[in-house]
Amino acid sequence: MIKKILVTGGAGYIGAHVSELLIKQKKQVFIADDLSTGYKKLINKKSKFFHCDILNENKIKKIIKENKIDSVIHLAAALSVGESQKKPKKYFRINVKGTQKLLNAIKGSKIKNIIFSSTCAVYKDGLSRVSETSKLKPTSIYGKTKLMGEKLIIKFCKKNKINYGILRFFNVAGASSSGKIGQINKGDQLFKNLSVEVYKKKPKFRIYGSNYKTLDGTCIRDYIHVSDIAEIHSKVLAKIHKLNKSGIFNCGYSKGKSVKDVINEFKKNIRKKIIIQKLSKRKGDMAMIIANTQKLKKFIKWRPKYNKLSFIVKSCIKWEKTFQ
Ligand SMILES: NC(=O)c1ccc[n+]([C@@H]2O[C@H](COP(=O)([O-])OP(=O)(O)OC[C@H]3O[C@@H](n4cnc5c(N)ncnc54)[C@H](O)[C@@H]3O)[C@@H](O)[C@H]2O)c1
Repeated sequence: MIKKILVTGGAGYIGAHVSELLIKQKKQVFIADDLSTGYKKLINKKSKFFHCDILNENKIKKIIKENKIDSVIHLAAALSVGESQKKPKKYFRINVKGTQKLLNAIKGSKIKNIIFSSTCAVYKDGLSRVSETSKLKPTSIYGKTKLMGEKLIIKFCKKNKINYGILRFFNVAGASSSGKIGQINKGDQLFKNLSVEVYKKKPKFRIYGSNYKTLDGTCIRDYIHVSDIAEIHSKVLAKIHKLNKSGIFNCGYSKGKSVKDVINEFKKNIRKKIIIQKLSKRKGDMAMIIANTQKLKKFIKWRPKYNKLSFIVKSCIKWEKTFQ
């Protein structure tokens, strides 16, 4: 039985949702987070929190040993595509060296399972619908560092007989129905940017790139609600442990939504005049990427619960209200 789980990045957007669910399932959750982009108020009160950098190998080793951790969910990372192009060294340090240090800390412990949060940004651009065996060729530095993280984990787990689940998230959006957790960072993510604008007097919706080779000219992504992502973590962890198996899994809904689709859904929820600003493309952005999720569905017998775009949009708008 899995009992004691270390969640790196548990004070972040996805980590807080994963922790909330695991705690609901009566697991003991330990969080290691340096609060660089995470928030104290997102830390679940029933978890044990360590203010700690994943690069601090000795401290992580101590946490694992003293708390008899049996599984690790590794979410701590730097994750802005745009920033990664400008600050590559930061991305290699946190996402590659940080993952290596975490693995060093795990070495010799009783850990049986590792879940790693990877991304669709590891795939080659222009493939549109990708399965786990599609060509890997990250467009951004962020994607490159995540792919390197995957490789480190696979090599380490094979050598040390640890089960791994590499989860390639597509674009995560939405907020918890508990109303307690959601995305705080402004970053450069579409749903967050639009939610912030909803509460302004004169909302401005920005479109980065309108001449992509897609149906309406804007980027297409496979958005997945954060509560579904949390459930995938819990189910994949249980399954790799039960079957003593490892795998790489795409996590999305297999449905592409364009920036314009998302904007139109937001528009339905506002009664103000909206200014649409068409800006130039951002470096590192892919035109279109949609997940083939057959492998995940088969492995955990998974069916999405929150996959209506209208639901995702409403949950973001509701969460954003807490800042008004
Ligand atoms: N949000 C998405 O759409 C998305 C998509 C694909 C993959 N991911 C992956 O999911 C994971 C979580 O993303 P998120 O959206 O919750 O972002 P987030 O920024 O909210 O969470 C990341 C957390 O990691 C912590 N952290 C960063 N560097 C650290 C370090 N050196 N030591 C300890 N803690 C550190 C931050 O403080 C933060 O709490 C990341 O690994 C990211 O690459 C996210």
